[in-house]
Amino acid sequence: MGQNNNERSSRLSGFYKLSLSERLDIVAEFAGLNEEEKELLAGRGLDAKQADLMIENTLGTFELPLGVAVNFLINGKDYLVPMAVEEPSVLAAVSHAAKLFRAGGGFTATATDPVMIGQIQVMDIPDLDVAVAAIEDNREALLEQANCCDRIIVDLGGGSRDIVARPFPETPVGPMLVVHLLFDTRDAMGANSVNTAVEALAPMVAELTGGRTNLRILSNLADQRVATAKGTIPAEMLETHGISGSEVARLIEEANAFAIVDPYRAATHNKGIMNGIDAVVIATGNDWRAIEAGAHAYAARDGRYQSLTDWHVDENGDLFGQIVLPMAVGMVGGATKVHPTAKVAMKILGVQSAVELAYVIASVGLAQNLAAIKALSTVGIQRGHMRLHARQVAMAAGASDDQVQRIANQLVAEKRVNVGRAQELLAEEN
Ligand code: MEV
Repeated sequence: MGQNNNERSSRLSGFYKLSLSERLDIVAEFAGLNEEEKELLAGRGLDAKQADLMIENTLGTFELPLGVAVNFLINGKDYLVPMAVEEPSVLAAVSHAAKLFRAGGGFTATATDPVMIGQIQVMDIPDLDVAVAAIEDNREALLEQANCCDRIIVDLGGGSRDIVARPFPETPVGPMLVVHLLFDTRDAMGANSVNTAVEALAPMVAELTGGRTNLRILSNLADQRVATAKGTIPAEMLETHGISGSEVARLIEEANAFAIVDPYRAATHNKGIMNGIDAVVIATGNDWRAIEAGAHAYAARDGRYQSLTDWHVDENGDLFGQIVLPMAVGMVGGATKVHPTAKVAMKILGVQSAVELAYVIASVGLAQNLAAIKALSTVGIQRGHMRLHARQVAMAAGASDDQVQRIANQLVAEKRVNVGRAQELLAEEN
């Protein structure tokens, strides 16, 4: 594998069968990691002193497994995708799904400009219509004022983009005006820039409207900053356990329809998507609560909570899938540039902008969803999951490092993957 981005491939067959150090060597070569970066991945990670500088009342650190998903081909570029997650089968499943997309040419993905929304709540307004008109008439001055405080983002081509006045004549506390500032945060997630901008804008808004401002904060429903990923899987790639590929494609379309019409199913469907998305967001040091909040609010944007993805059988009988969701992630600022493992994760991923990071993450969400609904539509989720889950069950039962795999194999062979049975087997061994 060469270092040149155009030559290197993420198609790594049998990667999961390699030892930890073999995997590390391959990823290090792919991403050009040095020894120190390899050591960070191998467990050195964030130390307590660094953690103490990041938050308050620090006691230490909390570790999660970090892996890489393989086989991702997005807009013709190969990616190894770092993922931090405690749930077994997430990495295996997403890597398998990425391989299926790859057979259809990989993902086509895009993201909008990184425009965030900042909100200013205005109360005690004498006349809502007059206030809305005042905001609209002073749009240019407001946009200029909003650019006052983060010259770096403005110099990089970001900054204020638009002002929108949203009147709410009836609320539990009387008439309210909400003023939106649309602000391009470039390669930052942008919460701090947007919050600074709306705080700087609020006095002017109060003066123009004759009202009193209360909250000034960004919205996590970042629907101006969305990422889209799509791809087509040739039907024959979906054949499994004696079920033809075209039948599997049809079953997946049915599974997706379930998540479109029924919020009870949509919540689980989207949770599966977030299994992949959160894992990359965490590995890259981004704010996964913001991404979760944005995803679920977006899923309910039409008044009913529904699937973030869309799957259907296309005119050739192949399976087409697409995801669209807000993706407020950055690659400067926050933990992305502070957490040592996140920095290495970003290097492995090799993205050049927040926009690229956003659409890579969306592709991971789409792949994770495919893996889940393919399994659910065919053999069921437990078959693959329990095999991988068995190791955690053995560990929970108290198995030592050299007992874990043996006990796990036995649990799977007996189809009794539970802690009680693992304890019995350990008692027999010890
Ligand atoms: C489990 O973590 C995720 C799934 O429930 C997702 C889904 O049902 O689509 C398998």
